[in-house]
Amino acid sequence: MCGIFCLLSLPSSQFEWDKTVREHLKRRGPNLSQDLTVKGPCYQCLFSAHVLHMRGLLTPQPVQDNTGNVLEWNGEIFGGLPVRPEENDTAVVSQRLSSCNSPSEILSVLSAIRGPWGFVYYQKAGDYLWFGRDFFGRRSLLWKFDADVNTLTLTSVAAYSSGPEQSAWQEVPAVGVYRIDLKAATGAGSVTFEVYPWAHGGNDLSSRSETILESAPGGCTAVMNQSGLVLRSPVCPLNTSIPESLNEKDIPPDSCVKDLEQLLAGKEETDEVSRLIDVLSEAVRRRVQSLPFRVQDSPPPAHDQAGVAILFSGGIDSMILAALADRHIPAHQPVDLLNVAFKLQEPKKQKESSKKPRKHKNKPTDPTTDGAAPRASSPFDVPDRITGRAGLKELQDLNPERRWNFVEINVTQEELQKMREERICHLVHPLETVLDDSIGCAVWFAARGTGFVTEDRDQRPFTSSAKVILTGIGADEQLAGYSRHRVRFKMSGYEGLIQELAMELGRISSRNLGRDDRVIGDHGKEARFPYLDEDVVNYLNSLPVWEKADLSLPRGVGEKLLLRLAAKQLGLGQSAVLPKRAMQFGSRIAKMEDRREKASDKCTRLLTG
Ligand SMILES: *[C@@H]1O[C@H](CO)[C@@H](O)[C@H](O)[C@H]1NC(C)=O
Ligand SMILES: *[C@@H]1O[C@H](CO)[C@@H](O)[C@H](O)[C@H]1NC(C)=O
Ligand SMILES: *[C@@H]1O[C@H](CO)[C@@H](O)[C@H](O)[C@H]1NC(C)=O
Ligand SMILES: *[C@@H]1O[C@H](CO)[C@@H](O)[C@H](O)[C@H]1NC(C)=O
Ligand SMILES: *[C@@H]1O[C@H](CO)[C@@H](O)[C@H](O)[C@H]1NC(C)=O
Repeated sequence: MCGIFCLLSLPSSQFEWDKTVREHLKRRGPNLSQDLTVKGPCYQCLFSAHVLHMRGLLTPQPVQDNTGNVLEWNGEIFGGLPVRPEENDTAVVSQRLSSCNSPSEILSVLSAIRGPWGFVYYQKAGDYLWFGRDFFGRRSLLWKFDADVNTLTLTSVAAYSSGPEQSAWQEVPAVGVYRIDLKAATGAGSVTFEVYPWAHGGNDLSSRSETILESAPGGCTAVMNQSGLVLRSPVCPLNTSIPESLNEKDIPPDSCVKDLEQLLAGKEETDEVSRLIDVLSEAVRRRVQSLPFRVQDSPPPAHDQAGVAILFSGGIDSMILAALADRHIPAHQPVDLLNVAFKLQEPKKQKESSKKPRKHKNKPTDPTTDGAAPRASSPFDVPDRITGRAGLKELQDLNPERRWNFVEINVTQEELQKMREERICHLVHPLETVLDDSIGCAVWFAARGTGFVTEDRDQRPFTSSAKVILTGIGADEQLAGYSRHRVRFKMSGYEGLIQELAMELGRISSRNLGRDDRVIGDHGKEARFPYLDEDVVNYLNSLPVWEKADLSLPRGVGEKLLLRLAAKQLGLGQSAVLPKRAMQFGSRIAKMEDRREKASDKCTRLLTG
């Protein structure tokens, strides 16, 4: 992960760094910082790049080739373009782009890449500035246009400020790539972007083009290129078939956990399950094996230094990632399981247990809620901690040879407030809801990886040194894991459910991914999302929805059914039948705040300073 920044001035103007922004960029890319200015006839571009060294030799950025093109690359190539182990992917992309003359050639290089990216590219011949994000938007890129001085700023991460410019930053929508004709912009005194959108081929653009064009920041105009050039979508469209007859299943309404396990055991392991395991396993392999040069060359790492960590709640999504990572990481290397808990406030706990009978009525499958937990003695024994410990046990059974570092990250309210104000509010920005705050804070503390591990009953302080963090995001969106999917299914059947799923995958960049990338990148670590690997999404998209979920089955089985069957096949136990618990509730951060607020409300706690 790197921090990239580009300031385009029309014409050249004085520029003073916002110190906070620069500091944030450096935290993303601690290994090397470099600035480069390009002067054109009537414009000026300042490039500032901050590199986190991930693989190959450390490649300084911005990369300027010998014809004067400049690349800032914040991405990873996991496929599509060949990158040899000793090569750095930044150099590969730069070489590829250097050899392009026409826009269609540039688009075909970008379309070919499998993996996350955000980039800025100055094409000297013709004076063009290109930028954009990958199909899912797995890397952050923000923009801001300042009409007073005619400057456009692009950056991986910005800063929150309470001044008049407060709301100027926006996420660059992950709808395609943009090109600015710098000569034309200079003449016109305003900025026009040409948009080359992601498309499935055919005519799926007409419905989206208006939204795409409206996405330009104030003071700028976006136009769709008339020539019809697009980026080829890396995944097929969502399968929208609807079953012809709905098989009614006889499910006893009050099934207990054991029944659910039987139900799952009774389901056949189909080709679909094996295929899913295959593509997901390959996605994990690519993400755990492209590590900084350590496996072959460096002396064996210290005993407890893991290269890979997993955001770990013990739920099915993270358990599957751990089980698959176990296949591909050499047995002598540890894996860090990052488990975050926010301190329960004593009086609130009281209140909650008085509500318990009602709350638990529909949750027969969750053995880990407070009622069933004999060791709920520590204020940090939140639901995700309890399922996390149970998950650890399963992984230890699965591979007793492996050293699994279960990192207990205990966060107090004081520390939460301090770090939110100092750092997290800037990283979440320009997102701003209560949900963004909860998840942003929970992910930030988890990714920092500072907590305790227990060894022979002794706790010792521990900080994860893994630079790669796997997260389970994308599983719920694709396999109907959220309770709103059940609501939608009840109300409007398969058709409604399919619409909901299509919509959610479409907005995952603006809802989650940019934010999570900024939050995790702040630790000089890189988020990787196996469930959003192109091959995984392509496979899941091709399946009809009823293969992925069966919402006539109870919670803990029906949603993400295909994934649960995969978990069984991988040898996982209880974790395969845990119902979804959102991170803000599982880690109890939402409880800690305990305000009467909706997840979609603007979060006042983020508005400090
Ligand atoms: C990159 O920076 C990190 C954090 O400062 C450091 O731990 C790591 O050793 C550096 N890597 C290289 C190759 O310099
Ligand atoms: C990055 O890779 C390219 C090609 O693989 C290589 O020529 C270059 O020297 C590398 N960068 C550095 C700083 O070594
Ligand atoms: C669209 O792209 C073509 C090919 O690069 C270019 O010649 C043309 O000027 C572009 N059209 C617009 C409206 O920008
Ligand atoms: C962290 O929380 C766990 C409870 O989940 C507790 O057992 C442990 O003692 C706590 N550690 C510290 C150092 O607070
Ligand atoms: C969608 O699923 C159905 C049922 O399995 C299948 O027949 C059809 O070929 C799939 N469509 C696509 C486009 O993959």
